[in-house]
Amino acid sequence: MKIALLGCGVVGSGVRAIIDAKESRNTAALEIKKILVKDENEIDDPRRTTDFNEIVNDPEIELVAEMMGGLEPAHSYVKAALEAGKHVITSNKKMLASFYPELAAAAAANNRCLAYEASTGGGIPWIANLGRVAREENIESFSGIMNGTTNYILSRMTSEGKDFAELLAEAQKLGYAEADPTDDIDGYDVRYKCCISAVRAFNTYVSPEEIPAYGIRNIGMQDMEYCKKNGLVCKLIGHGALVKNADGSKAIDIGVVPSFIPADSMMAGISLNFNALQCVSHNLGAATFVGQGAGSLPTAHAVVQDMIDVMLAEEERAEEVRTLPVSTESLHNFYIRPSKLTAFGALVTKTVGSGAFIASGISFARLKEIVEQANDNNVFIAEIL
Ligand code: HSE
Repeated sequence: MKIALLGCGVVGSGVRAIIDAKESRNTAALEIKKILVKDENEIDDPRRTTDFNEIVNDPEIELVAEMMGGLEPAHSYVKAALEAGKHVITSNKKMLASFYPELAAAAAANNRCLAYEASTGGGIPWIANLGRVAREENIESFSGIMNGTTNYILSRMTSEGKDFAELLAEAQKLGYAEADPTDDIDGYDVRYKCCISAVRAFNTYVSPEEIPAYGIRNIGMQDMEYCKKNGLVCKLIGHGALVKNADGSKAIDIGVVPSFIPADSMMAGISLNFNALQCVSHNLGAATFVGQGAGSLPTAHAVVQDMIDVMLAEEERAEEVRTLPVSTESLHNFYIRPSKLTAFGALVTKTVGSGAFIASGISFARLKEIVEQANDNNVFIAEIL
C-alpha cells in the first residue's frame, strides 16, 4: 500500500524509520511515496515535498498519516484527504478532538477509515482496546495517567526533589512535550485525550472547551511535602464516566486534575514517560493498559499499527457520535493551595499545613465558579482520590 506522511518531526521520523526498516511482512508491504515537510531543508529524503497537492491529487496514495500537530493546516489536509478518498491516520489529538464530528462524518461519507491510536496513550494500544471492550458491552468509566511530560516531571520531583523547570526542559529534549508545553502542563493535552477516549468508550463527543482541566503549573515543593507526609503521590489524572443526574437524565463526568493517590497504589508506581489507562465495564471489570505514553518510536509504533489495520481492513469505520452534557452534579474532594485563603472561604472544609485546604464534596462546576471569582493565577488544585 502506498502512503504519505504529513510531517516528519518526532512522530513522523519514527514512522519513517519503522516503515523503511521493513522488519515485518506488514511493514514491508507499506511504501512511503511522499513526505510533506514545511521546508525543503528539513529532511534529506527524495520523497519529501512541500506541496500537499502532490499527495492529495496522487491516486496511487491510498493512506495519509498526519503527524504535523496544531489545528491548521492539519485539519484542512485531513479533511481534503478523506474527501479525496484516502484513509487517514492521525496522531494529532488537539486537531482530532477539536474537529472529530466533522472528520468522522467526512470519513463515513467517503467510506474511509479515520484511525487515531497514537493520539491517546502514545504507544499503548488504548484506543483499540477501548473499541474491543465497547463492541461487546457498555464501558462505565475510564481514567488514568495520559500525559508523559507531566508524569515525567511529577515522578522525578517526587523521587529526586528536582526543580519543575529543569525537568520540563529535559522532557522537551526527550521529545515528550508538545511544541508548546503549555498544553502539557496546564492539562489541555489530557483534555483532548479525554475527549477522544470518550468518543471511543461512550460513543459520545464533548467539545474540549467543556471539559474541566487543571494542570501542574503551580505545583510546589510544599505540595510534594504534603503528599509525602500523608502517604500520597501526585499524578495528573484524566477521567470520564457516564452518570445519571438526579432527574434521571444522562451526563458525562469528565475532567483533568492533578490527583493525590495512595503511594502504594498501582497508578503511583507508573513513572517517567509511562502512561496507565484504565477502563471499567461490567463483564471485564477494571482493565489497565500501561506503556510509554510519549516519545518518537512508541508513538510511531501506534501510527504504524493503525496503518497495518487499515491495510488488512481490520479498522472499524467511524460511527456517528451523540452528545451529552458535562455533569454538574458529580461530587469530588479537592486539595487547594491558593495565594490567599480568604478568596476561597466558601469552599474550606478544613485547612492543612502547607497553606492549603481541603474542599469536600463539590462539583467541578462549583470549583470553576469559585476559582474564576478568586482570580488567583498561582492557585494549585489537586483532587484527592
Ligand atoms: N506531549 C504528550 C505527552 C505527547 O507528554 O504525553 C504524547 O501525546
